[in-house]
Amino acid sequence: MADELIKGLEGVLAAESELSSIDGDAGRLIYLGYDIEDLARHASYEEVVYLLWHGDLPTRSQLDSFTEAMTAERVVDESIVETVRRLADSDERPMAAMRTAVSMLSSTDPDADAAAQDHEAARRKARRITAKIPTILAAYDRVRQGEEPIDPDPDLGLAANFLYMLTGERPDEIAAETFDQSLILHADHGLNASTFTAMVVGSTMADLYASVTAGIGALSGPLHGGANQDVMEVLFEIDESDRDPLAWVEQATEEGRRIPGFGHRVYNVKDPRAKILQARSEELAASGDDTWYEITTTIEDYLTEEKGLVEKGIAPNVDFYSGSVYYQLGIPIDMYTPIFAMSRAAGWTAHVLEYQADNRLIRPRGRYVGPDDRDYVPIDER
Ligand code: CMC
Repeated sequence: MADELIKGLEGVLAAESELSSIDGDAGRLIYLGYDIEDLARHASYEEVVYLLWHGDLPTRSQLDSFTEAMTAERVVDESIVETVRRLADSDERPMAAMRTAVSMLSSTDPDADAAAQDHEAARRKARRITAKIPTILAAYDRVRQGEEPIDPDPDLGLAANFLYMLTGERPDEIAAETFDQSLILHADHGLNASTFTAMVVGSTMADLYASVTAGIGALSGPLHGGANQDVMEVLFEIDESDRDPLAWVEQATEEGRRIPGFGHRVYNVKDPRAKILQARSEELAASGDDTWYEITTTIEDYLTEEKGLVEKGIAPNVDFYSGSVYYQLGIPIDMYTPIFAMSRAAGWTAHVLEYQADNRLIRPRGRYVGPDDRDYVPIDER
């Protein structure tokens, strides 16, 4: 067995998957062979979830019955809503509240006792998790704003229904479509840190709730899902202090700070998802406030052209534009990472189901670099 240590497992092949593939040099992302740009332009989030779970795009009737089954799972048991209320009232942070509530969902799952090998039960769990997370998140946000949670509207798609449950207003077509597109873009992304975390848990044949709860934990960090919120905070910082965005960037680079929303472990060029969201941000800016679009593009142009960051392989990632898009949709900024999780639940569950179908416990080794041959000294003599 090779003894080479690869820090951060960079470039290490840990599993085979048919689900998604990233070409980091070409800036291309595919889900089961379909280009992300085609899916974002033509498909709905539900269609993409079906694709990830079933391997093919659905026919019209397959999509209808799938959507009906997903929609039927949106309601969350009152015991969980109660917990969400308590978490919101006690100012628990959104990702932590979501992690707790999703973990608790297993207590009301009719398939809770099914073995992990029961593939059909696992699919039903995946459906319940993905359908219920939006209801949990919206309820959490409503309660902390002093409002009552809103029941899901079965006539709306998952994206539009989430915006409705969050704001109390049915979104217009552009808002619903933009949000749906963003969910598609975040649904899967190879063996990223949170997906790999979910797979490690799944490889012990633990149930899907354990995998997704662990995935949420991994996504919460600023190097992964947390960056979209960080981007928006930077944009606020620049806007509120009336500063020239370039002065902020200069200072940040001089201080050795990382620019949130830039850089990626796999992409060496601009993330294709960032391109799509940039176009949406531009569209929203044209019909409303263009502040955020202006600041982000100014920073991107400067870092790209003047600072040559892209030549060093550090280019905008999906989070650089998702923040300003969500802001323009009226979504509170600390909900950005939870929304990422809401969408990625489809990818996490798809990867766990795929991996468990041909399972091998994930158990790497660590190289021991601690001391050797120490004599035990009784506690009172140390
Ligand atoms: N701003 C400035 N310099 C950067 C940045 C950045 N955002 N990202 C990487 N670098 C530099 C880094 O300082 C290092 O330079 P040097 O070699 O001179 O020390 C070089 O690029 C390589 O950095 P690294 O940390 O070895 O690269 P990595 O592959 O481990 O990091 C990353 C990937 C995403 C953690 C990193 O780019 C980063 O911290 N970006 C900011 C946070 C962010 O936007 N995260 C969202 C990622 S996309 C959404 C998701 O998948 O979760």
